[in-house]
Amino acid sequence: MDLGIKDRVAIVAASSKGLGKASAMALAGEGVKLTLCARGEEALNAAADEISGKTGAEVFSMAVDVTNKDDIDALVKATVDKFGKVDILVTNAGGPPPVVSFLDVTDEGWREGIDLNLMSTINMCRAVVPHMKAQKWGRIVNIMSISVKQPLDALLLSNVSRTAVVGFSKTISNELAGDNITVNTVCPGAILTDRVKNMTQARAKNEGKTQEEILAAYTDIIPMGRIGRPEELGGMVAFLASEHASYITGTVIQIDGGFVKGYN
Ligand SMILES: NC(=O)c1ccc[n+]([C@@H]2O[C@H](COP(=O)([O-])OP(=O)(O)OC[C@H]3O[C@@H](n4cnc5c(N)ncnc54)[C@H](OP(=O)(O)O)[C@@H]3O)[C@@H](O)[C@H]2O)c1
Repeated sequence: MDLGIKDRVAIVAASSKGLGKASAMALAGEGVKLTLCARGEEALNAAADEISGKTGAEVFSMAVDVTNKDDIDALVKATVDKFGKVDILVTNAGGPPPVVSFLDVTDEGWREGIDLNLMSTINMCRAVVPHMKAQKWGRIVNIMSISVKQPLDALLLSNVSRTAVVGFSKTISNELAGDNITVNTVCPGAILTDRVKNMTQARAKNEGKTQEEILAAYTDIIPMGRIGRPEELGGMVAFLASEHASYITGTVIQIDGGFVKGYN
């Protein structure tokens, strides 16, 4: 299916690896021009080369920390200087650290968690929306987590900061609908990215088990009986960014092999 977004311009945040990179790859496969960003330049350059090599897409990349508002503003300005516009924003960042008890989280820990997932999303939207409003076309897709559907044990900071993103996104989706700008959120369950590989390797070492045994504990509680592939999330991001998703806004969609047990 042609998604109808050839020559659109997308900024994909936190995209040198994992879910951001898979989303960028899916958009590039549709002929979208891309701005990638992450903090580490080496992996970022490798991702840009891989994506342009595989798809032929025009790819611009910039080392940016999404918790820094000045970095975000510079990223959006550089994108508009290079490509003349910005049509699609995919927000994404790293994940906050696990927490044993809420009493252990300091003021600074709260601020860092909120800056990482909530303020980065707000600041990216603030920077791109004026451009989208001017052209009366825009797509914003947030990469969050199933923690917004069902709190995950030990991920207090993720549970709190990401549900706030859902409140923010639903609210601005109403405000922006008349400008033909959609705002949707995708919620990965367990998807085999570098982050999950590293986490499961570390757990295997700590618990004296194999990585396969640790992964089996994840997949046992997933109705599909397997962990997800990054491109399975990337495909949904590209669809929500497409012409075909023109009447879909304010939604929160899990990509989790059936892991969430509730109705929505
Ligand atoms: N994979 C899953 O199963 C899963 C499930 C639920 C939610 N999530 C969430 O989805 C997001 C992406 O996860 P992933 O699995 O794709 O992780 P990943 O494979 O570790 O990739 C993370 C990417 O984000 C970049 N990044 C991290 N912090 C950043 C920052 N402050 N500014 C700019 N870029 C930053 C990293 O590059 P640099 O480190 O070089 O900056 C890297 O490109 C995370 O928030 C994670 O918690 C993942």
